[in-house]
Amino acid sequence: MTIRLGDTAPDFTAETTEGTIEFHQWLGDGWGVLFSHPKDYTPVCTTELGRVASLKGEFDKRNVKVIAVSVDPLESHKGWIKDINETQSCTMNYPIIADPERNVATIYGMIHPNALDNLTVRSVFVIGPDKKVKLQLTYPASTGRNFDEILRVIDSLQLTANYQVATPADWKHGDDCVVVPAIKTEDIPAKFPKGFTEVKPYLRMTPQPDL
Ligand code: BEZ
Repeated sequence: MTIRLGDTAPDFTAETTEGTIEFHQWLGDGWGVLFSHPKDYTPVCTTELGRVASLKGEFDKRNVKVIAVSVDPLESHKGWIKDINETQSCTMNYPIIADPERNVATIYGMIHPNALDNLTVRSVFVIGPDKKVKLQLTYPASTGRNFDEILRVIDSLQLTANYQVATPADWKHGDDCVVVPAIKTEDIPAKFPKGFTEVKPYLRMTPQPDL
């Protein structure tokens, strides 16, 4: 199944290391990140799961729930968590979905047979409070993801959702933002009291509005 930005994230029921969940109900009213792993007891995945556990406070601050999925069964996940905690100096603090039947992997299109036979690739889905897919990323098994980048994108998505700004190339928290083209220049002062700079009529910059 192909999922596109703006589609409703498919709902599912699944067993996880923190009990059975109904995905949409588990997400509640906040944001979510669903990310897949090729397989348990593999080196790159071990580092990724540990990194996300260490960053959990950053996801919490942004009202984002994180959940991992791999095609191995629950007992395998439980054993692997001990290794993750031991080797990555963390305590696993979010659920891993057991997906041995590949139900979640299939509905989210996480299996790319020409890239990785029968295993999930490294997919990331960021889901908004409206349950729509806001971002998707696909990495090969050999490249571990940069979770600071995923937090950066979430910051950008949340600014756009709340303030009608976009973020320019290489933007990071604290940098100036782009006023979205839908806003007329004459309407900017009322909406952005911190001021703005008109670099070109189509390129208007304003200080990050939520600081
Ligand atoms: C890994 O997580 O290290 C990995 C998994 C599948 C293929 C290659 C690497």
